[in-house]
Amino acid sequence: MPPLASFTPLLLAGFAAARACTNVTIPVDISSRQGLFEEFPIEGNIDVAAFAQAFTQQGRNYTAMLLRDYQTLKGSYEISAKFCQPDSGSASTIQLLSHGIGFDKTYWDLPYNNYNYSYVDIAVKQGYSTLAIDRLGIGNSSHGDPLNTIQAQAEVEALNAITTLLRQGKVPGIDTSFNKVIHVGHSFGSVQSYWLSCLYPNNTDGLVLTGYSANGSYLPVTVAAWNLHSARLNQPLRFGNSSSEGVQKAFGSYGTGTALLSGIQSLLKNVTIQLSTNEIWNEVATTEVGDLINGYNQTIAPLDYPSGYIVQSDFTATQYVFLLPGRYDIGLGILGEMTKQPVATGEILTIGSSPMMSPFSGPVLVFTGENDQPFCGGDCLATGTSAPSIPAEGKKQFPSASVFEALIQPETAHGLNFHYNATAGYEAVQTWLAAQGLAAS
Ligand SMILES: *[C@@H]1O[C@H](CO)[C@@H](O)[C@H](O)[C@H]1NC(C)=O
Ligand SMILES: *[C@@H]1O[C@H](CO)[C@@H](O)[C@H](O)[C@H]1NC(C)=O
Ligand SMILES: *[C@@H]1O[C@H](CO)[C@@H](O)[C@H](O)[C@H]1NC(C)=O
Ligand SMILES: *[C@@H]1O[C@H](CO)[C@@H](O)[C@H](O)[C@H]1NC(C)=O
Ligand SMILES: *[C@@H]1O[C@H](CO)[C@@H](O)[C@H](O)[C@H]1NC(C)=O
Ligand SMILES: *[C@@H]1O[C@H](CO)[C@@H](O)[C@H](O)[C@H]1NC(C)=O
Ligand SMILES: *[C@@H]1O[C@H](CO)[C@@H](O)[C@H](O)[C@H]1NC(C)=O
Ligand SMILES: *[C@@H]1O[C@H](CO)[C@@H](O)[C@H](O)[C@H]1NC(C)=O
Ligand SMILES: *[C@@H]1O[C@H](CO)[C@@H](O)[C@H](O)[C@H]1NC(C)=O
Ligand SMILES: *[C@@H]1O[C@H](CO)[C@@H](O)[C@H](O)[C@H]1NC(C)=O
Repeated sequence: MPPLASFTPLLLAGFAAARACTNVTIPVDISSRQGLFEEFPIEGNIDVAAFAQAFTQQGRNYTAMLLRDYQTLKGSYEISAKFCQPDSGSASTIQLLSHGIGFDKTYWDLPYNNYNYSYVDIAVKQGYSTLAIDRLGIGNSSHGDPLNTIQAQAEVEALNAITTLLRQGKVPGIDTSFNKVIHVGHSFGSVQSYWLSCLYPNNTDGLVLTGYSANGSYLPVTVAAWNLHSARLNQPLRFGNSSSEGVQKAFGSYGTGTALLSGIQSLLKNVTIQLSTNEIWNEVATTEVGDLINGYNQTIAPLDYPSGYIVQSDFTATQYVFLLPGRYDIGLGILGEMTKQPVATGEILTIGSSPMMSPFSGPVLVFTGENDQPFCGGDCLATGTSAPSIPAEGKKQFPSASVFEALIQPETAHGLNFHYNATAGYEAVQTWLAAQGLAAS
């Protein structure tokens, strides 16, 4: 693994910083060979906790235990996406961005601090077009039965269908046909981008797998650390279908976002036992109390996920899995909690079912934070072997790749985009792509 510093910094001059973005909705027809699982109770938080206990029990494969048969899922779905291109017009190379668990398409282009944490900004500055999708089942894309419809396989089929439409120039609202499609994932989105390269190696020109390794040993700790709860109960105003009228009456004078949190804190200070301002901040911002009223002033319709969509319980769980203490802006972290997205039980059951190896013969970059928890157990460099890092061991999944490189981003955990210095890492990714002959054209 070459140190990141060995890559020449990009020349950022010469490109207009500005980009043009549109929201697009992409119809896809898919046929997916996937599991048919036995139903289990998943209504309330106690059921959800039981699912997590069963999934993480050592010595058993809960996916195999629930598998009754295989099925061919056929269906038409809508994928919601954000397309961006340089002001000067679309490139013929596009980066197709798939988010991880806990996020949606906005992960790649956070507006925080004037888009200071934006993968899209960095890629578009280098002349690429980007398409960031809400994965099938999540956010503004079609939802579905969280156990037997929304599984990794169905999402890979949707990703492949979108890739083909991009090449054909048939995505509604995008008037370009792309010669090259680079698949860029984060976490579960990387698992799916890898999986696409296993099934449809000719449909990708390059892989950038961020927040990724081939090591599944730390998945149970991750699932436990999330302290999963029912999404509908965790953020009833955003994930459920509760009306926020009453909440707006009670809290409307305080404002939204962190201003709302201050309002709730002020209220609690008056009516509860004596807690200091800092203690009350902790009570509201870092626990499920904040989630309970989150989204009270959203103008868009609540997402109304069915039971079986589950989510990490609060900001401390979010930090455990995604954030390195001291190396991220807490305001941005809280925003991540407020805008988080759930995971379907069918996704958790199939996350480990990808093929063992990919026949892909193009270039592959793995780009993972040094302190990644889900894919490295908190230290990607502690391999206990001669391998330079846990992500570097992923080479075994790509015996035919023209190039395989694992870059480790220092002082960064799994949610790469939330950490200071994220954009320097993203620039290194673009430099690597250009070095592989995949510069924007
Ligand atoms: C896309 O959708 C988002 C969320 O609804 C909205 O804030 C944004 O203005 C939309 N962008 C465009 C270009 O319509
Ligand atoms: C668990 O079982 C599923 C379904 O049979 C299989 O795809 C998966 O590879 C198994 N996982 C492990 C770690 O053996
Ligand atoms: C953006 O990030 C850079 C580098 O981390 C920092 O120097 C700059 O102040 C930030 N700008 C804003 C608007 O936050
Ligand atoms: C969600 O999708 C609808 C159409 O299905 C569209 O009107 C809306 O702008 C989308 N919002 C976001 C945030 O993508
Ligand atoms: C990819 O393309 C090569 C060369 O045209 C062909 O031999 C191979 O069968 C294709 N693989 C798949 C999975 O379509
Ligand atoms: C809200 O969702 C619940 C559970 O799905 C359903 O029983 C109820 O009818 C819904 N209420 C409204 C107003 O849509
Ligand atoms: C709630 O949202 C509406 C529409 O975006 C806005 O006009 C209003 O000021 C917001 N209320 C508060 C308290 O922020
Ligand atoms: C808390 O009490 C103070 C002093 O009585 C009052 O000014 C303030 O409006 C109260 N805040 C809330 C949220 O009730
Ligand atoms: C994951 O990495 C650790 C540390 O190198 C190693 O002990 C473990 O065997 C690996 N697990 C898998 C499934 O490769
Ligand atoms: C920031 O990221 C770049 C690119 O990965 C790296 O070269 C540099 O060492 C990082 N800086 C710090 C302070 O970690």
